[in-house]
Amino acid sequence: MKSTKIVVKTPSKSYPIYFGDKIINLTGSIIQKNLPDVKKICIIVDRNIPSKILKELNLSLKKYKIKIYKLASFEKTKEFNTANKMVESLIKENFNRSDCIIALGGGIIGDFSSFVASITKRGLKFINIPTTLLAQADSSIGGKTGVNSSQGKNLIGTFYQPDFVLSDTSVLKSLPRREVICGYAEILKHALIDDRKFFFWLCKNAKKIISLEEDNILKLAIMKSCKIKTKIVNKDEKEKNIRMTLNFGHTFAHGFEGAKKFSKKLNHGEAVLLGMMMASKLALKKKILSTKEFVLIREHYLDLNLPRDFKKNFKKKDINKIINFVKKDKKNLNERINLIFINKIGSVTRPGKYNISKNEFRKFLISQQK
Ligand SMILES: NC(=O)c1ccc[n+]([C@@H]2O[C@H](COP(=O)([O-])OP(=O)(O)OC[C@H]3O[C@@H](n4cnc5c(N)ncnc54)[C@H](O)[C@@H]3O)[C@@H](O)[C@H]2O)c1
Repeated sequence: MKSTKIVVKTPSKSYPIYFGDKIINLTGSIIQKNLPDVKKICIIVDRNIPSKILKELNLSLKKYKIKIYKLASFEKTKEFNTANKMVESLIKENFNRSDCIIALGGGIIGDFSSFVASITKRGLKFINIPTTLLAQADSSIGGKTGVNSSQGKNLIGTFYQPDFVLSDTSVLKSLPRREVICGYAEILKHALIDDRKFFFWLCKNAKKIISLEEDNILKLAIMKSCKIKTKIVNKDEKEKNIRMTLNFGHTFAHGFEGAKKFSKKLNHGEAVLLGMMMASKLALKKKILSTKEFVLIREHYLDLNLPRDFKKNFKKKDINKIINFVKKDKKNLNERINLIFINKIGSVTRPGKYNISKNEFRKFLISQQK
């Protein structure tokens, strides 16, 4: 099968993302060409993935010595102790810097595996084969690796770019609808912060994307989403400034996920959807976003029945828990909470421009309870 390629160019590394339908069987030949010194490969795979996907990957890697670890994809897997065990095991197996880890899974497996790759012997080769829409449209690119701390999400991590990403849309076919919606969250985020035209294209095509029925539309949405993220990451790999705009909705989301104890009661993508709606409501209240623009966003949520109701998901007693997690966000300075807003669809406020006190944040959450 044919693949299309985008090259990500960050100061620390340039690497390709290959897109296509049924291209997973190209993995072996791409490794041979791009990473000729690899001898051993460790595949870290999500247990939920249909076995035929792993079989196809394995078949293309016949030439290599393969070690497979199957992990459950819970936020609890993304923790330091599990990463430490994995590193110890790779060292025992004599994995060297020229050897490689392949992540075959969603964002959880990707974040975890890239973290392990980055700290083992100061860096093994790393390949990401994302199997969720969220991971294909967002988390597999940009080089943020991470595990969770008991005090918050992704608080332990590194920046470590992959050697390549292989995005095969055919592996998404087994994805439950709930997970497709989670992936759509990050696609929508990219449109809202950077590309008005893409937002209106999504308004027309979102149902086709979510149904996974039209490969071309799906691939276009994923590629467009990756291009927006790539453009931003290329300018600011280490998140000193503009990359923080990718955090739109995420400050709220981290608080929401924390308050739900990072459980499957609220997935990351659902928390992001809820977070973007809350950030838009706050922007409307602060007159940063006009009513007309807000209505367009709300109509899109209503049309797709996307998670949007804070009151439905949280009780008054949860508000303190949410604030405690939000306070720990890496992007906060001093005691104030840094927020990214959109001032119109496709345009985002400058990082650092808006920060609010804990008290204002609390009052806003309480107002959403009424
Ligand atoms: N590094 C980054 O830049 C970045 C960006 C966004 C999100 N993230 C992280 O990504 C994580 C969320 O990722 P996610 O939404 O992919 O979650 P996930 O990895 O938990 O996958 C979602 C669910 O889909 C299942 N699954 C995966 N592939 C499947 C397939 N092909 N068929 C059937 N089921 C499949 C998984 O087992 C899981 O139950 C969060 O931890 C978040 O913090 C990281």
